Amino acid sequence: MKFFIDTANLEQIKEAQDLGILDGVTTNPSLMAKEGIKGAKNVKQHYIDICNIVDGDVSAEVISTDYDGIIKEGLALAALHEQIVVKVPMIKDGIKAIRYFSSKGIRTNCTLIFSAGQALLAAKAGATYISPFLGRLDDVSTDGLNLIEEIRIIFDNYLFDTEILAASIRHPMHIINCAKIGADVMTGPLSAITALIKHPLTDIGLAQFLADHAKNK
Ligand code: G3P
Repeated sequence: MKFFIDTANLEQIKEAQDLGILDGVTTNPSLMAKEGIKGAKNVKQHYIDICNIVDGDVSAEVISTDYDGIIKEGLALAALHEQIVVKVPMIKDGIKAIRYFSSKGIRTNCTLIFSAGQALLAAKAGATYISPFLGRLDDVSTDGLNLIEEIRIIFDNYLFDTEILAASIRHPMHIINCAKIGADVMTGPLSAITALIKHPLTDIGLAQFLADHAKNK
């Protein structure tokens, strides 16, 4: 399973990259706003800065919701860097735009996926990735993992190349369960990734090893 970090924070991206396990980055307009990135020029430079840190795909989301606007924005984003994947919302004009980008060899991430039907449609349009929002479904008492299971079955039935990018990951169990189901990619915060490192028995065991080593000195 590929590991993406879901942030626009350069320090956190560097930290994940330094761990040696990072395969890419996803951003969205909320994450960019959180970092105070304003204005078209600064936004573009920030995406380039991210691409220069990480060795992998970087999702950059369009703001437009009409076909012509999505195409114009997506072409400009894709031209910024070869690592850029154009993130397009799951709306009618978004599906049409994904088909266009696919025909031009521009990679896309169809975002805001909350149903298997949406995922199927985006895959048929030629999306490189589809992003089902696991945590946000859990937030409204709906099993997000069940959606990823359904999409896995559908994509396997028809051998779609589209990758399932499990998004809105909140904690380490989301990552483990996505890996068990067979999500191709997960994108989550640094806290969920580094939480995978921790286990109290590891800490106790290491303390014991070091104490026993010290006794032999
Ligand atoms: O980037 C899309 C998704 O990962 C958002 O996550 O935590 O805002 O639901 P969250």
